[in-house]
Amino acid sequence: MSWDLQWGKPGDHTPIDVHEMDLPLANLGQGLAGATLAVISDLHYGRFARDGYAARVVREVMDRRPDVICLLGDLINGQSSEAARCAKVLAGLSAPFGIFAVLGNHEYYGGWRAAARAYRDIGVELLLNEHRVLERGGAAMVLAGIDDHRRGRPDIAAALAGADGSLPVVLLSHNPDEAEEIPAAARVDIMLSGHTHGGQIVLFGHPAMTRIEHRQYWRGWMQGPRCRVYTSRGVGFVGLPIRLNARAEIPIFRLAQKT
Ligand SMILES: [Fe+2]
Repeated sequence: MSWDLQWGKPGDHTPIDVHEMDLPLANLGQGLAGATLAVISDLHYGRFARDGYAARVVREVMDRRPDVICLLGDLINGQSSEAARCAKVLAGLSAPFGIFAVLGNHEYYGGWRAAARAYRDIGVELLLNEHRVLERGGAAMVLAGIDDHRRGRPDIAAALAGADGSLPVVLLSHNPDEAEEIPAAARVDIMLSGHTHGGQIVLFGHPAMTRIEHRQYWRGWMQGPRCRVYTSRGVGFVGLPIRLNARAEIPIFRLAQKT
């Protein structure tokens, strides 16, 4: 087997997979076909990832000019002071549809309000059990986000309340375990998650770290009971500054009409 090892403080030298994928959605209107959605997850700013690496992540995303950017939680490592410092760098992000965020468990360690404030200050919309409608060229879709599975009070039904049931729905949840909590009555096409770091250290195909209950969601695509799930490997490091066979990843989804 091959060994893909990164260790030490992350920076410009750290390999990042910018992973472009088609995302076919049923009922997607022509006007939104081709729109791109970039995901940044699990930066864990503060301990190993500092300004230089955060700026690198911002650069990698902005080079692709995505239409919408989603921050999937654990953007900071856990000190409340990290939120404002991290946001200063994330202020370099911009996208025509906007930037949306959900909270991860690490935002709670330092007090989630500091993260919420920092996001508001740079124009990032925090989706705490709520949704927005994205529209272009007469087409529309629902982008919903829920609170963290472990530390917060996620409520998928509340997040989708009032949404037009005929529109495609992309649900953001830091923790992929929430795929098992989607109510039967809820319409969700795709759930996007992070949290697992793709195992961060993967030996002989086995992830050393996932911190989830339903381990099938540890990375990439998986079919859940109600929808498909994509779990990003994220970009940062937790615990040890090591990634083994779990390279940092920035997924970029290109919306497509499902035929
Ligand atoms: Fe997490």
